[in-house]
Amino acid sequence: MLEIRGVTKHFDGVKAVTEVSCTIAKGAITGLIGPNGAGKTTLFNMICGYHVPDSGLICFNSLEITGKPPYAVAAAGIGRTFQNLRTIKKLSTLDNVMLAFNPGASLFASLKKGKERQNRERAQELLAFVGLSDKAEEPAGELSYGQQKLLNLACCRALDPALLLLDEPVAGVNQEMTVKILGLLRDMRDEGIGVLVIEHNMEAVMEVSDRLIVMAGGRVIADGEPAQVRENSEVIEAYLG
Ligand SMILES: Nc1ncnc2c1ncn2[C@@H]1O[C@H](COP(=O)(O)OP(=O)(O)O)[C@@H](O)[C@H]1O
Ligand SMILES: [Mg+2]
Repeated sequence: MLEIRGVTKHFDGVKAVTEVSCTIAKGAITGLIGPNGAGKTTLFNMICGYHVPDSGLICFNSLEITGKPPYAVAAAGIGRTFQNLRTIKKLSTLDNVMLAFNPGASLFASLKKGKERQNRERAQELLAFVGLSDKAEEPAGELSYGQQKLLNLACCRALDPALLLLDEPVAGVNQEMTVKILGLLRDMRDEGIGVLVIEHNMEAVMEVSDRLIVMAGGRVIADGEPAQVRENSEVIEAYLG
């Protein structure tokens, strides 16, 4: 569903991403791994429209999205979460999801649009999906770190994305929460959503991914099944070592 062809992004001589090509399938979990500075987040940022590539092409469901602004990429069906939490701590957990239906608009504006009841029901479904129904009316700031990660996932699904980009969804959460979040990634995959996930927790990413892409020094150095990639000598040297 996503095709990246020869994409390059350099920052004043820093070769963040050089000539990266890969395709991402729907209904599959693709892990994106590599050492710090490998270019993973820069690649995400180019897919989402936060950075315009210096060269190369990005297509989503046969539609070219290279250099399109973030709202257009989101509207085309690509959702993402960030490495750091993006919850609005003073708003209730439910209102955080409600707000996600109308990125860029105020909560008031989204309520005025007359879709409130429909959005509220969908927001409640999304909270049920991540297991936060009983926290709906609590300020999001009172959720644990792991619960806020779950809330980020619920928000990310509000626009019904066909492809989700997740930047370190289990970083900093405990084992129990890791298992829960990995289960949600599988549920979404089984619904046909494409999932591309950056993750440093090797055990988690090896376990959950149907396919692994390894970056180092701004380039893709391996792409294949996790079991094969784990044995790849270049990967072991650059990363797993
Ligand atoms: N906005 C930017 N300006 C300058 N250099 C950047 C910028 N973003 C990333 N870089 C550099 O690009 C390289 C790749 O960074 P990044 O994509 O964040 O790697 P990763 O997510 O794999 O750790 C690093 O050397 C980083 O310092
Ligand atoms: Mg990063």
